[in-house]
Amino acid sequence: MTERFVVSIDQGTTSTRCIVFDRRGQLVSLAQQEHKQFFPRPGWVEHDAMEIWRNVERLAPRVLRRAGIGLDQVAALGIANQRETTVLWDASTGVPIGRAIIWQDTRTDALVHELSARPGAKEVEERSGLPLATYFSGPRLMWILEHTPGLRERAERGEVLCGTMETWLIWKLTGGVDGGRHVTDVTNASRTMLLDVRTLRWSRESLDFFGIPAAMLPEVRPSVGVFGTAVAAFPGVRIGAALGDQQAALFGQTCFTPGEAKCTYGTGSFLLLNTGTELVPAQNGLLSTVAYQIAGEPAAYALEGSIAITGSLVQWFRDQLELISSAPEIETLARTVADNGGCYIVPAFSGLYAPYWRSEARGVIVGLTSYITKGHLARAVLEATAWQTREVVDAMNANSGLALRTLKVDGGMTADNLLMQMIANVLDVPLVRPLAVETVSLGAAYGAGLAVGYWPDLDGLRQNWHIAGQWMPAMDPSVRDHEYANWRRAVERTFDWIQPAQ
Ligand SMILES: Nc1ncnc2c1ncn2[C@@H]1O[C@H](COP(=O)(O)OP(=O)(O)OP(=O)(O)O)[C@@H](O)[C@H]1O
Ligand SMILES: [Mg+2]
Repeated sequence: MTERFVVSIDQGTTSTRCIVFDRRGQLVSLAQQEHKQFFPRPGWVEHDAMEIWRNVERLAPRVLRRAGIGLDQVAALGIANQRETTVLWDASTGVPIGRAIIWQDTRTDALVHELSARPGAKEVEERSGLPLATYFSGPRLMWILEHTPGLRERAERGEVLCGTMETWLIWKLTGGVDGGRHVTDVTNASRTMLLDVRTLRWSRESLDFFGIPAAMLPEVRPSVGVFGTAVAAFPGVRIGAALGDQQAALFGQTCFTPGEAKCTYGTGSFLLLNTGTELVPAQNGLLSTVAYQIAGEPAAYALEGSIAITGSLVQWFRDQLELISSAPEIETLARTVADNGGCYIVPAFSGLYAPYWRSEARGVIVGLTSYITKGHLARAVLEATAWQTREVVDAMNANSGLALRTLKVDGGMTADNLLMQMIANVLDVPLVRPLAVETVSLGAAYGAGLAVGYWPDLDGLRQNWHIAGQWMPAMDPSVRDHEYANWRRAVERTFDWIQPAQ
């Protein structure tokens, strides 16, 4: 019998990856393509949805060729995607309407501020499990409808479709204008503010609050279950799963039991704690979110701590300040000094997410003296990720009533040993990293494989998890407390930087 495999698409913020996995969950081949980041104004960030689709079409044959396999050997396709990024397109031509507005974009700042004062705002937050913030898709959709003449009328007539990136890709994969399926999964839907996170249906009241015509929204489906069969890119292959990238990473880390947590260190960093089939109302600046839903089963929920800027601070250090020429050099540079020299960088580039949710905050570098070198700055860049994790873990422990005992980590930044040690030090818990670092892709593949019976059950997947790295905390508690207090004072300096327009 010919061997069979599962393929995943990880449609991320900076790039799209296609990966072929085998039955043991091992990576067989990978193909990756970056896409253009558009920054048309300060705070605005956009992607070209058509460019991203073309990348998928290009990556598909490439990744199969590299694996030396044919389409007939692909058992299923799973999709993971950057979350909250919003795209609209014409239902009859398939052409995107404007650019996709990405999750980091803060153009809805004033709108969100105004919405929070409207009657019904508290109820929207309660139903969705999310605080009103620029981060989520609902306000973004409202903004687009308000700023594009005639769009609302066309949307009401069903001429315009919208979705997050998995919705766009599934529609294109399953035929586009020729019968493409207009669907989303519960994890992505749970990031719009339009979903009732308990019933897992679009909320009529929330749609009215944002003025969103129901006709433009995709159908909400379980994350793991067949969405349709591809006719493009992977013709003939069933699409077995779609999950937001962070939920996919939780799945790929096999955090299937309540109490298990992971943090993925990429462009931003996102800590998710599985809380089981009962939704735990979020407090302390965390989010209640859907972790995953397997077709025919109740959904599993998670508490999430979202940090907007971590790896992208390293990118900024590289591309905008040009103090290093590749991301890994940040570690080398940081190791040229013994400590931060009293310097702290708080990267509130798009406001602060968890646990503060302050859209008016902007980044600061504090503690500058003539003593500070670029080595100290490099340290402060890495420490920013560590302290932001600490703040989220503190909130998580308080919210869940459990103390985190160990943290599973993954993502591009986990290649940085100095950073991993810093995080273990400031959390005072061990970090563990699995052999499979592409956990986002792996989670999407696991979901797709489960949906078509390629893998029998969750227990089988757990057997595939193998430890590859571990960091034990080693920091004097008094130093930790002192540094943490400094960090928090630095954070306070970012507040209220952007003043409301007069
Ligand atoms: N050795 C390193 N030390 C610190 N940061 C690093 C290192 N290597 C990579 N990074 C950072 O990690 C990030 C890339 O991580 P990863 O590949 O997981 O992100 P990604 O999945 O591509 O992001 P996205 O899904 O948002 O497109 C980049 O922001 C980069 O700056
Ligand atoms: Mg990613």
